[in-house]
Amino acid sequence: NDTVLKLIAYRSNALGQPQRKKVISRLRAYHGVTIASASLTGLPNNHRSFDLPLPNILHTGSPHFYKDGAPGESEEAFATRRAEELDALIQKEGPDTIAAFFGEPVMGAGGVVVPPATYWDKIQKVLKKYDILLVADEVICGFGRTGKMFGCETYGIKPDAMVVSKQITSSYFPLSAIILNDRMFEPIADESNKIGVLGHGFTAGGHPVGSAIALENLKIIEERGLVAHAAELGAYMQGKLRELASHPLVGEVRGVGMIAALELVLDRGRKTAAATPGAVGGIASRMLQERGVISRNMLDAIAICPPLIVNKAQIDDLVAAISGVLEDMKGEVAKLTPA
Ligand SMILES: Cc1ncc(COP(=O)(O)O)c(C=O)c1O
Repeated sequence: NDTVLKLIAYRSNALGQPQRKKVISRLRAYHGVTIASASLTGLPNNHRSFDLPLPNILHTGSPHFYKDGAPGESEEAFATRRAEELDALIQKEGPDTIAAFFGEPVMGAGGVVVPPATYWDKIQKVLKKYDILLVADEVICGFGRTGKMFGCETYGIKPDAMVVSKQITSSYFPLSAIILNDRMFEPIADESNKIGVLGHGFTAGGHPVGSAIALENLKIIEERGLVAHAAELGAYMQGKLRELASHPLVGEVRGVGMIAALELVLDRGRKTAAATPGAVGGIASRMLQERGVISRNMLDAIAICPPLIVNKAQIDDLVAAISGVLEDMKGEVAKLTPA
């Protein structure tokens, strides 16, 4: 993400638009922890006491319908509202000062936030209107997680740049890459031809071990049809998890393909958890681990992100463990102070 940000500035300068440097990200986004990436991230703990975000990085509202939707508002109306807010922010800042919009097709670390219906169509219309670049952070979604090769395909997103990592090597080796379209690449190439060099590179960039592992991993994903498998078993997993949706401690079950989350609450009607955010999620995470399930609680959202090779029996075991924990935790949860 840092590299893409640098290239966006470089491109604006190449196009003779030096004023076009601001970028827009979203609240609850997660894009990493280096200075620029942490600025793109929209989570308070990644900003607080770090003097972040950087001034040219702005945040618009999160796409989380369950948490941010107004009473009586439909998903589509919520998506329209978010697109209108984006338009208003661009107008306020000055459309010719905005270079790009960054977004995860499905938000990961912010709590597995699946975009509401029509959201990406409406956001892209606004970006198009002002000639603003779209960068898709595919670090979690890329290579099958959402049931298609990229999250962009799942949601009809046409990005100018994609940032990929994690499943490019199935995380057996650290590697990331960026993918640019011609609209991004050509001005950058022209500028570096003019200057004589693209002054940007890393000691370990293009590392042969990482590259070999990625190529082999991508070959295995293709050979074993893991993207189609993720779509099929993902649909199965989403269906099984939704059987838990009526449990009194479950506020929302959300997800797509092989990524999902259960939002745990004390009061389903008011959508509230305990006075201490993360207290309910922490209990669930601990009890799941005691049953041999490694999950991660993002505050009170329990994230579920199994390997793409998972089989039906393992999904059944996983959902049975979650179901058991929801029962086991009732006693401890009853002692918590509601928010
Ligand atoms: C969507 C997304 N983007 C970027 C990152 C940052 O990756 P790294 O921690 O390797 O810098 C992450 C890490 O979890 C992520 O989920």
